[in-house]
Amino acid sequence: IRIEWDKEQAEKDGFDHYMLKEIHEQPRSLRNTMAGRIDEAKREIAMPDLGLLPEAVKEIEKIYIVACGTAYHAGMIGKHVFESLAHIPVEVDVASEFRYRNPLFSQKMLTVVVSQSGETADTLAALREAQRNGSRVLAITNVVGSSIAREADYVITTNAGPEIAVASTKAYTSQVIAFYLLGLYFAQVKQTIAANEREALLHAMTQLPDQVEKILTHADEIRAYAASIKDESQMFFIGRGLDYAVSLEGSLKLKEISYIHSEAYAAGELKHGTLALIEEGTRVVALSTQAHLHEKMVSNITEIKARGAVVLGIALEDNMELHRSVDDVCLIPATHPLLAPILSVIPLQLISYYTAVALGNDVDRPRNLAKSVTVE
Ligand code: G6P
Repeated sequence: IRIEWDKEQAEKDGFDHYMLKEIHEQPRSLRNTMAGRIDEAKREIAMPDLGLLPEAVKEIEKIYIVACGTAYHAGMIGKHVFESLAHIPVEVDVASEFRYRNPLFSQKMLTVVVSQSGETADTLAALREAQRNGSRVLAITNVVGSSIAREADYVITTNAGPEIAVASTKAYTSQVIAFYLLGLYFAQVKQTIAANEREALLHAMTQLPDQVEKILTHADEIRAYAASIKDESQMFFIGRGLDYAVSLEGSLKLKEISYIHSEAYAAGELKHGTLALIEEGTRVVALSTQAHLHEKMVSNITEIKARGAVVLGIALEDNMELHRSVDDVCLIPATHPLLAPILSVIPLQLISYYTAVALGNDVDRPRNLAKSVTVE
């Protein structure tokens, strides 16, 4: 037998699309983001190449996180991480808003810009605006030598490898891991975290690549779910706290490549308007990975089910209670609650991928979108 391969097929490693290849690469890209940044012997974070010295970290009183698209959603996780681990208040902004809103700066602030490509025009402009106002800028980027990497004062390279599909997957999870590393580093320097808590988090982080691998073995179940939603005209994603941030990313993924209108909502906010859109058969994905918010989520799910919603729940496997309140459940391996976004986003990436494939869309090159937006 002679099998013909063109260059593009070869680069896709046997996967039908770059996006699917990149989803499956995540165990490796996550390992690469962590490589050399965790001192296994001392069980602490080592940031040898960062250049942001402990004395400078101790002076930071406030952080701005600025990014676009998927990178902005990673920034929302970053806010939770810095606030809960390092006790530093954080504001997260979309770059196109930040650069025109005259944000207040001081020398004791750090601006963190997040950009896979390192070339997004609005994010680069936000970086320059921050520096012009005396703020130091730390960039989290995937491209060494990009404009953002060159102009930032400090850089964390995510090392996720090239991302070709327009819809970002592995770059997002690597950006989120970079925030865990950075948040833990700040917490370590500021001594805002107990040694045992830090060690538990580090241990849980090193388990993540294998846990992602495990979720990927269930791709067929997610493909079946995708087939069931492909003809919907709208979808909702709901969650609280970190789950809300992940809902936004799941909803964006679905919009980008399946073109199904979807909305992500903070579950507690539903009753202030969006509940009016829920009717018999409306499809909702409800994330509940945060034990302290679980009861509240169950009551939100009960509210939407009473109005006819059909709900897929996404929960950690040590939380079996969710089964009772949803129509279908997707369980992900148990982890530290702060790390759950790395795992809960995987089924959402697969849902959007398989829905777009079922609809016959051009998954890697969705209409109207570009991989990198270098003009305003
Ligand atoms: C474009 C891409 C998105 C991406 C965003 C930010 O809109 O289509 O997938 O999240 O730009 O890109 P960046 O390279 O700055 O992370």
